[in-house]
Amino acid sequence: MAKFPQRGPGGQPPSRRRRADAERPIPSPQSTTAWEAQAQWYDQRQGEAGDDFHSQLVLPAVLRQLAVQPGQTVLDCCCGNGVLGRHLASHEIRSIGIDAAPSLIEAARERAGALEEHRLGDAHRMLADQLVAPASCDAAALVLALQDLDPLDKVLRGCAHVVRPGGRLVIVLTHPCFHLPKAHHWGWDEEAGMMYRRLDGYALPRRIPIKTFPGRSSSASSSSYHRPLAMYLNALGAAGWGVIGSEELCSHRRGSRGRKSAAEDAAHREFPVFLLLTAQRLEPALPARQG
Ligand SMILES: C[S@@+](CC[C@H](N)C(=O)[O-])C[C@H]1O[C@@H](n2cnc3c(N)ncnc32)[C@H](O)[C@@H]1O
Repeated sequence: MAKFPQRGPGGQPPSRRRRADAERPIPSPQSTTAWEAQAQWYDQRQGEAGDDFHSQLVLPAVLRQLAVQPGQTVLDCCCGNGVLGRHLASHEIRSIGIDAAPSLIEAARERAGALEEHRLGDAHRMLADQLVAPASCDAAALVLALQDLDPLDKVLRGCAHVVRPGGRLVIVLTHPCFHLPKAHHWGWDEEAGMMYRRLDGYALPRRIPIKTFPGRSSSASSSSYHRPLAMYLNALGAAGWGVIGSEELCSHRRGSRGRKSAAEDAAHREFPVFLLLTAQRLEPALPARQG
C-alpha cells in the first residue's frame, strides 16, 4: 500500500509527528462519514444534471468512453447523487450506483427512473459484501472519486469482479500531473504576459486533509490522495485492467474579460483539469482478494 506523507500549508514538509499520523492508513469508514457531512452541499451543487464541469465536460466524455449500448448495465462506483446514472438513463442505459454516503444514495433514489438502481455500500468492500453480482455489468465508471479512496487495490478489483470480461472501466480524476491540492498555483509572468502553472511536488504520493467548509473552524474534514500517474496505471494492471485509452479534459470556462483574459484562455486550453482513463477488463481476471 502506498505511503502518503502529508504536506503542510504552503507545501512545507510536515513535522515528524504529523508525518507519522499521515502515513497511518485511513480506515475507509472515515472517508464515508466525511462525505455524509457534505452530502447536502454536494447534492445541491450537482442537482439534476450536474454542475457545468459535469454536464459539459465530464459526463459526455464518460459516456463516449464507456461505449455501452441501450439496455446494457453500468456500475457507477461512488455515484454521489446519481448524476451519471441519470445521464446514462437518458440514453436508455441501465446503471447500478454504489455510494457510502446514505444521504447521497437517498438523493439519488429520489430522482431515479426505472433504469437506475442505487445501493448503499463501501467501494472497498464490493467483493466482501457482495454488493453486485460477479460479471453482471457491461462496464463500470469511477467519476471523481478514486483520488478520495485509499487503498486503490480493493476498489479496482471489486470493479473487475462485477464487470464482464472485455467490459470497460472509465475513471475520471482531477489530473494528477497538474492538480495537487494545496500544492498547485496559477502564476502571472508579467514580462511574457503569460499565465503559468506552478507545482510544488509530484512524484511523492501524499494524503491531503480537506476541510469540508474551509471558513468554519469546526468543519468536518475528508482526505484526498495525490498519486503520481504511474501508481494509477500500475494499480489498474494489478487489478486485471488493461488501459486502452485516455482523454485529458481542458476546462470549457473562459477568461475573466480583464487585462489577462486572453492569457487565461490560453492557460485553460493548455492545462487539462481532468484525466480520463479507459481500461478494459482482461480475461481471465486476476484472482480477487477477499476483505
Ligand atoms: C466527488 S464525489 C463524486 C460523486 C459522483 N461520482 C459524481 O461524479 O458526482 C465522491 C463520492 O465518493 C463517495 N465515496 C467516498 N468514499 C467512498 C467509499 N469508500 N465507498 C463508496 N463511496 C465512497 C462519496 O460519498 C461521494 O459521493
